[in-house]
Amino acid sequence: MNDGLTRPLRPHLWLLDPEVAHLNHGSYGAVPRPVLEAQRRAAEAVERSPERFYRADLTAAIDAVRGRVAEFLATDPDGLVLVQNATEAVQVVLSSLALEPLAEIVYTDHTYPWVKAAIERACDERGVVPRCVALPNRSELADGSAPGQSDGLSEAEFAAALVTTLKGALNERTALVVLDQITSASALRLPVEAVCAALGDEVPILIDGAHAPGLIDAPVPKGAAFWLGNLHKWAFAARTAAALVVAPPWRERVRPLVASAGAARGFTGSFSYLGTQDPTAYLALPAALAFPADHLGMTFGRLRERNTAVLELGLARLRDALGLRLPPGNGLPMRAVPLGRAGSDAEAGELGARLREKGVEVATTSPGGQLHLRLSVQAYVGVEEFARLAAALAAVV
Ligand SMILES: Cc1ncc(COP(=O)(O)O)c(C=O)c1O
Repeated sequence: MNDGLTRPLRPHLWLLDPEVAHLNHGSYGAVPRPVLEAQRRAAEAVERSPERFYRADLTAAIDAVRGRVAEFLATDPDGLVLVQNATEAVQVVLSSLALEPLAEIVYTDHTYPWVKAAIERACDERGVVPRCVALPNRSELADGSAPGQSDGLSEAEFAAALVTTLKGALNERTALVVLDQITSASALRLPVEAVCAALGDEVPILIDGAHAPGLIDAPVPKGAAFWLGNLHKWAFAARTAAALVVAPPWRERVRPLVASAGAARGFTGSFSYLGTQDPTAYLALPAALAFPADHLGMTFGRLRERNTAVLELGLARLRDALGLRLPPGNGLPMRAVPLGRAGSDAEAGELGARLREKGVEVATTSPGGQLHLRLSVQAYVGVEEFARLAAALAAVV
C-alpha cells in the first residue's frame, strides 16, 4: 500500500542508491533524472555549434532563464542574476560593498560556516570588524527547543526579540547585516520579513536564503538589499545554480567576482558571460522548476506539505523508538532534532560517518555544542526510511 507518505513517491525518478536511506536532501539536493536529461540536451545543443552558442545565443538564453527564475521567486527579473552557489553570492555582495576600515558586519551565531569564512576574510583584508550576535533564547537550543517557542513566545514576540537583538548590534559604522532565512545546522526558520521591515531602511541587509527556493513561496523579503538562494537544494536544479537578488539602489555597484566585458550591459548583463563556463545547469532550470508539476503532479507547495507530513510521522517514530525529545514544528520538511548530549563539530561528523556505514545518510550537526540530527525529507523518502534511521541510531549511539 502507498498512502503517499509511507513509501517514496516515484523513486525511479532519481538515481539514488536504493540500499541507502537518503535523509539529507538539504545539503546538496538530489537532481532528478528529467532534469539531468534536460541538462544533457542543453549540452548537446551547445555542442552543435559552440561558436554560435557562446557568441550569439548565450546571453539571450541566460536572460530567458533569469526571467523564469524570477517568476518562480516572485521577484523582479532586472534585479536577479544567476551564480554558481550561495558561497559565491555572499562573496559577490561582500566584494561589492565599499567597506571602510573599522566598518562592521553583523551576523549571528547560526551563520553558515562558509558565509562566516567569507565575512572573516573580508574583515581581515579590509580592516572591517565582525560582530557576531547570539539569536534570542539561544540557550534553549541546548534542551532541544527552537528559539522563541518553548517558553511560549509567539512568532511575533520572537520576531520582535530578534529585531531588538540586531538593532542593539548596529551603530553608525555598521555596513551590513547578514541573516539566515533558514539556518543550516539548526534548521530554524527566522522572521526575515520582520527584520527587513524594521531595519531595512537603516542598514543594508543580506538574507542568506540558501534553503529557501522550493521551501518558501515568494522568499525575497521587502526591504532586503540583497537576497540569495540555492536552486540546487530544494528547487531540483542541476548543480550548480543559485540566484542573487539585488534591490534597485545597489544594482549599479554589485559586480561579479571576475571582471566582465559584459559590464556595459549593466548589472544583469555583467553576470551573463564570465569567460567560457559550462552554463548547462542554468539552461536546465526551466525543467527543474517544472519538475514537481510535470513528474509528481504537484505544486512545490503541495510537495512541501507532503514532505513535512512524512517528516512529522518519521520523527514521531524516532521519539517512540528512542525517546528523543522533539522540537516544535517549523512547517518545513527539514528539522534539527537534539540527541540530548553535548558534542563538537568533529564528534557530529564522526556520528554522521558511522550512520553512513549503516546505510543512513543524515546531516549530523552541533548547534550550541549539542549533537543534533538534521533531517530533510524530499519526495524520494517515505516514513519507512525512519525505521532504518531508528535502527542505525540505536546501534550507533
Ligand atoms: C544557510 C546556508 N548558507 C550557505 C550555504 C552554502 O551553499 P553552497 O555550498 O551551495 O554554496 C549553505 C549550504 O548548505 C547553507 O545551508
